[in-house]
Amino acid sequence: MSSQLTPIDMAKFIAAKQATEYVEDGMNVGLGSGSTAAWFIQCLGEMVRDEGLKIKGVPTSSQTAELAREVGIEIVSLEQVKWLDLTVDGTDEYDRNLNLIKGGGGAHLREKIVATASERMIVIADATKKVDTLGAFPLPVEVVPFGLAATKGLIEETLVGMDVLGRDIKQRMHGDRPFVTDGGNLILDLHLRHIGNARLLGFILNQVPGVVEHGLFIDICDMVIVGHGDGKVTVRDITNDTSEVVQYDVRDDDNIFADIAE
Ligand code: 5RP
Repeated sequence: MSSQLTPIDMAKFIAAKQATEYVEDGMNVGLGSGSTAAWFIQCLGEMVRDEGLKIKGVPTSSQTAELAREVGIEIVSLEQVKWLDLTVDGTDEYDRNLNLIKGGGGAHLREKIVATASERMIVIADATKKVDTLGAFPLPVEVVPFGLAATKGLIEETLVGMDVLGRDIKQRMHGDRPFVTDGGNLILDLHLRHIGNARLLGFILNQVPGVVEHGLFIDICDMVIVGHGDGKVTVRDITNDTSEVVQYDVRDDDNIFADIAE
């Protein structure tokens, strides 16, 4: 199967595979959203099926819930378990302090609730997600539909005093209709190009009435696992200040892909 994967998919897959090392029997696991998290869910499903792994999963989106059910992971709600051992999720950007921009899939509200209800958050990514400064990826902000134009105007005003390079705000669309989140809200994408002070911007955005949540994850992520197309995986744990490199053998005859392709 390895030859069927693009280098980016290979990178996502091996990052996801490495993240399964941190999952133990009996854990409550937050299941992220997006294509990288989907690889992790596939890998977990394989462990449930083939190794009898016993975990409960809390999905961060309806899409993730559907995939998790499909691969045989027991799904529970956050209300049921209240606290999670671990969340594994993808990201749109991460910086050297493991601060993130998330919400490319519009799921950042639930992703943030689940991650902050977890003992530990692990981000899995390919190397394209690493940035010196957050902001090249448009910052998603989930807003309630009521008073959309007023909320957008207030965000525009808020940005005037901020250390950013762009101030363009676009409502996210799905075809010719507004994109609607799992919570029934809308998304404004802030094209800022550079965010000089992400902590301050996040704090200020949360003061705007109508804003439900923004996609800046500050001091939430504990570890980033980055896959590379050549089979190298780097693991950086910010809580212990450790880094590790793991090499996967991704030749065609390798069996790390067993079952996943089926
Ligand atoms: C969804 C997210 C995703 O984690 C993020 O968009 C990364 O997605 P992908 O793994 O497909 O690149 O935040 O809201």
